[in-house]
Amino acid sequence: MKELSVKSDLSSALSKAWRIAREEGFTSLLSTLRGYCLYHLRDKWRFVYFEYPLEREFLAFEGRELLTIKIATREDFDRIERDIFPSLVGDLEYDKRYFKLIGQEGIRCFLGEKDGKLIHYSWVFLSAFNSPIMEVPFDKTQLRKGDIFIGPVFTHLSARGLWVYPCVLSAIIRYLRQNQYGEKVLIFVDGRNAAARPFYERLGFREIPDAVRANWLYVLRQKVTATIP
Ligand SMILES: CC(C)(COP(=O)(O)OP(=O)(O)OC[C@H]1O[C@@H](n2cnc3c(N)ncnc32)[C@H](O)[C@@H]1OP(=O)(O)O)[C@@H](O)C(=O)NCCC(=O)NCCS
Repeated sequence: MKELSVKSDLSSALSKAWRIAREEGFTSLLSTLRGYCLYHLRDKWRFVYFEYPLEREFLAFEGRELLTIKIATREDFDRIERDIFPSLVGDLEYDKRYFKLIGQEGIRCFLGEKDGKLIHYSWVFLSAFNSPIMEVPFDKTQLRKGDIFIGPVFTHLSARGLWVYPCVLSAIIRYLRQNQYGEKVLIFVDGRNAAARPFYERLGFREIPDAVRANWLYVLRQKVTATIP
């Protein structure tokens, strides 16, 4: 199985830690380490997983604003860096590493453009086996050939609330159906995001029950994380 080449290994994590300590100081390093620990011990265990069978007709959305949607090529990289990267701060900074995958086989980055500015990205991994879902506690025995993964997704703050994402999602599903790329789309959201769950259900996504495999490590983590607010 091919691994997602953006997956961070120990040496890159250490060199990142060293860079933060050098450039931003010890306090910044500590807060990065705290974020890292919270993500692995708590946050990623809260994800909720949804699936959408591509045989099903999808509700098509028209944008309320004039929106151009395209698949990114390497030529778009400079514009992405200029229009989008400054907004990728905090946890979102992690998403930056995906952009070196533009143009790679089986991976698509859908971009949304409004008023000449890139304001949205949605990543599509034509094989879920080579996607971010491999890095979260999803029960991998449930993955099948033909499973596609969508995420991460992002809309620039200036364009939020205009239903940019539903329009892009609609374009993605149309593209996947037209090209018969697979059978099912998978996504995950933070379980604490109360708005995301009804949003996907309204669109016809179904929550996957027992998506996280309850092994002894999971139970132990549940006990540990229950003590972390
Ligand atoms: C999620 C996000 C892309 C949606 O932005 P948008 O294009 O402006 O879409 P809108 O705000 O118009 O929302 C449309 C619907 O998407 C829903 N939605 C879907 N997935 C969501 C998510 N992961 N987080 C928040 N809202 C989400 C919203 O609830 C909303 O439904 P509603 O109008 O019924 O409440 C945007 O909030 C964002 O970039 N957030 C920061 C990055 C992030 O959290 N990404 C998701 C995890 S990868």
